[in-house]
Amino acid sequence: MLSNNPFSLLTEIIPAIAMQSFIIAMVLLIIGGTIIQMIHHKNLTYFFNNAKKAKLAATKKLGFGEKASIVAKTTVVDIGTTSELGFGKRRLAHVLGMYGTILFWLSSAVLVFCYTGADKANSETWSMLWHLGAILTCLGGFWFWFFLRVDVSAEAHPWYRIIKADLFVLALLACATFGLLWSFTQFNDQKSLSFLFFILFVASNLILFGGVYWSKFAHMFYKPGAAIQKNLAEADGSRDNLPPPADAPEQFGLGIKREEPKHY
Ligand code: HEM
Repeated sequence: MLSNNPFSLLTEIIPAIAMQSFIIAMVLLIIGGTIIQMIHHKNLTYFFNNAKKAKLAATKKLGFGEKASIVAKTTVVDIGTTSELGFGKRRLAHVLGMYGTILFWLSSAVLVFCYTGADKANSETWSMLWHLGAILTCLGGFWFWFFLRVDVSAEAHPWYRIIKADLFVLALLACATFGLLWSFTQFNDQKSLSFLFFILFVASNLILFGGVYWSKFAHMFYKPGAAIQKNLAEADGSRDNLPPPADAPEQFGLGIKREEPKHY
């Protein structure tokens, strides 16, 4: 099953061009949803006003080389490993889900555009990467959903309590889970089940990409922007208009060691 391209067999009922158009439509939904969200939430206005203020407060002018090196380091270290989540389960779960999703999306596009349709060869590698991406997304996402969510791990809410903010993670998990179930049932020739899971796979994709405006989807664009801005502000001395760290030893008393901080 893992080396099978599920999109390839689908051409019996849906032409490859329709699948390719679906992917393009999803990309347009991401762009549209993110732009409308930025306009409504005024994120860009805030971001640029902040950058302007920080420029005035800068104590050092950074050259192009320095800026490029800060951006590269932030991309590899802070963004590439989600360093803002510290060391621990939260970060590991996020990294699993993040790289799983990137792999899942990238291999979906490669499989549909390059290996699906009449006279197209199969690519075992890309098919395996597609399945691996979905499995990693499920690992990181379900771990987060059942155990790590702040309201579950720190506020003792039950894991099945669903609020609007869960739209993103749930739609993402539905895509990966139904994708895997579709591939599994298709491989085992369970026609009606496979059709059902395919419909659910398409529906969850429509919810995930159609819901960008209402969900946390766009954090994958905002977070990297904010990390780069923060590191540039530290290097040019503007420190996002925050005071410098106190020049005194960190003395919080022994109480701080009694319990891991998890009350956000
Ligand atoms: C393909 C890229 C990404 C995917 C699929 C992804 C996925 C997710 C998911 C499913 C959540 C849980 C959302 C929730 O609170 O319900 C989340 C939270 C989060 N993400 Fe991402 N993310 C991506 C990129 C990024 C990037 C690039 C950063 C930072 C540079 C980032 C930082 C965070 C942070 C700080 C949280 C909060 C985590 C927590 O509360 O434990 N994410 N992400």
